[in-house]
Amino acid sequence: MADNPIALVVGANRGIGLGVVKELLSRGWDVIATARRPAEATDLIALAASHPNRVTIRPLDMNDPAQLDAFATRLGDRKLGLALVNAGVSGPAHRSADKATAEEIGALMFTNAIAPIRLARHLLDRLVPREGVLAFTSSVMGSVAGNTGGHELYRASKAALNSLTRGLWVEMSGRRLTLLTLHPGWVRTDMGGPSAAVSVEDSARGMVDVMTREAGRHEHRYLDYRGEEIPW
Ligand SMILES: NC(=O)c1ccc[n+]([C@@H]2O[C@H](COP(=O)([O-])OP(=O)(O)OC[C@H]3O[C@@H](n4cnc5c(N)ncnc54)[C@H](OP(=O)(O)O)[C@@H]3O)[C@@H](O)[C@H]2O)c1
Repeated sequence: MADNPIALVVGANRGIGLGVVKELLSRGWDVIATARRPAEATDLIALAASHPNRVTIRPLDMNDPAQLDAFATRLGDRKLGLALVNAGVSGPAHRSADKATAEEIGALMFTNAIAPIRLARHLLDRLVPREGVLAFTSSVMGSVAGNTGGHELYRASKAALNSLTRGLWVEMSGRRLTLLTLHPGWVRTDMGGPSAAVSVEDSARGMVDVMTREAGRHEHRYLDYRGEEIPW
């Protein structure tokens, strides 16, 4: 519906991203949802069928720089009220700096830290002036102050993302937009595993609450899905 606000969710074919798409649809947003392989994104395809004209599925592989740079040019005319860059990976199973190869670190850092910022720079002009929110799915594990050890490579990738989001915020000065670095909770997804504390539905509801509540504040905040501040 052309009068609905429109959101972009990057990495939306499963897990938290898919949950956020469902939550946004339930609140009257139209959604542009990305997947690496749209033809295989069966849950998004079903959502598009059950919400006619409200879900657009676009291909985007965060590991392809050419796709990152071209993506925003194909978004159409409607300005985004909200853009959530959510795609991410947990990195090599050994999780250890001692065992990591340059290729493993390059892939992890590119997907989790570099690609989100590279994409986001192209999205800034596509956001609704003043009310637009640009958000990244980071993690509490990106907090240097709150580092309790373990998962050192994943932590480093999200700490790098956090640092890059702060740098982006400095670049954005004068734009009067809101920038959020978010922790979705420990969520029962393929990445979070079945023992995680939070359901996808509760995480997505909280993430959307936080993103919509922060609109218009023109701040950069590091918040969890309940809106609680996380130390950098
Ligand atoms: N689950 C948790 O407890 C938790 C906690 C803190 C933060 N996070 C963060 O939350 C975000 C979503 O995690 P999740 O738990 O929903 O994980 P998930 O179920 O593993 O889903 C990951 C999503 O990222 C996409 N993705 C990965 N690499 C991509 C690439 N190169 N290009 C495009 N899309 C790519 C996946 O697409 P494919 O299906 O094509 O692989 C999928 O849509 C991630 O950034 C993660 O680091 C998760």
